[in-house]
Amino acid sequence: MSIVIAIDGPSGSGKSTLSRRLAAHYGLQYLDTGSMYRVVTVWCMDQGIDLDDQEAVARAAREMPLDMVTDPAGPRVLLGGVDVTERLHTGEVSTVVSIVAVNLAVRAELRDRQRAIIDVETTAGRSGGRGIVAEGRDITTVVAPDADVRILLIAEPGDRLARRARERHGNADTRSIEATRDEVIRRDAQDSTVSEFMRADDGVVTLDNSGMEPDETFAAAIAIVESQR
Ligand code: DC
Repeated sequence: MSIVIAIDGPSGSGKSTLSRRLAAHYGLQYLDTGSMYRVVTVWCMDQGIDLDDQEAVARAAREMPLDMVTDPAGPRVLLGGVDVTERLHTGEVSTVVSIVAVNLAVRAELRDRQRAIIDVETTAGRSGGRGIVAEGRDITTVVAPDADVRILLIAEPGDRLARRARERHGNADTRSIEATRDEVIRRDAQDSTVSEFMRADDGVVTLDNSGMEPDETFAAAIAIVESQR
C-alpha cells in the first residue's frame, strides 16, 4: 500500500523540516515543490529571459530539463544534469521567485510535473512504490487533493520570521528578522493571490505549530497521519 502525504503552509511554517522527517520515518520520497518554482527562476535568469515575459517564462518551464532527486536524506535539484540545489535559496532567487509563482501557465506545467512524480512514487520510482510526502502551497488543494493525508501547517508570523531568520542568518536578532521580513511577509502576500494556503480546504487538517519545537510538531503530525491513513 502506497501513501501520499500532502503538506501546505506559508513560508517559515516548518514544512520542509516536518516533511523530510515524515518521509524518512515512513520510508517515503520527499518532494519540495517550492524548489521547482525556484529552479524555473534560475533557468530563466541563466538564459536572460525577462521574468515579466509570461509566455517566454512558461515556454522555458515546459522545456526545462529538470530532475528532482526526492531522497529525504539529500534532496537535490538537477538542471540539465547539473546540481543547482545550492543556488535555489540565494537572495537573488528568493526576491523574484514570486513573479514566476504567479504565472498561471508555469503553475499548470509544474502541477503536471508534480503529479507525474507523485504517480511514479506510488507505483514504483525511488520509493519502490511506498509513496511520497509533497509540500508546497497548493498540494492539498490542486496538485494532490486526493492525497491520503492532507495537512495545513501554520504558525504565527513572529514564529515564522524567527525560524526563517535563523535558517538564513544563523540567528533571530532584530537585523536578521528585518532582513527576512520581505521574504516571509511580502512574498506570502503576493503568493496568496494565486493559491489559498492560509485556510484549510475541507478534509485538510490544520496543525498550528506556533511555539512548538520540531519534535513536538513531528509528534503531532504523526498522530494526524496515523488517524487519517
Ligand atoms: O516554499 P518556497 O519558499 O521554496 O517557495 C518558493 C516560491 O514558490 C514561493 O513564492 C511560493 C511558491 N510556491 C507556490 O506557489 N506553490 C507551491 N506549491 C510551492 C511554492
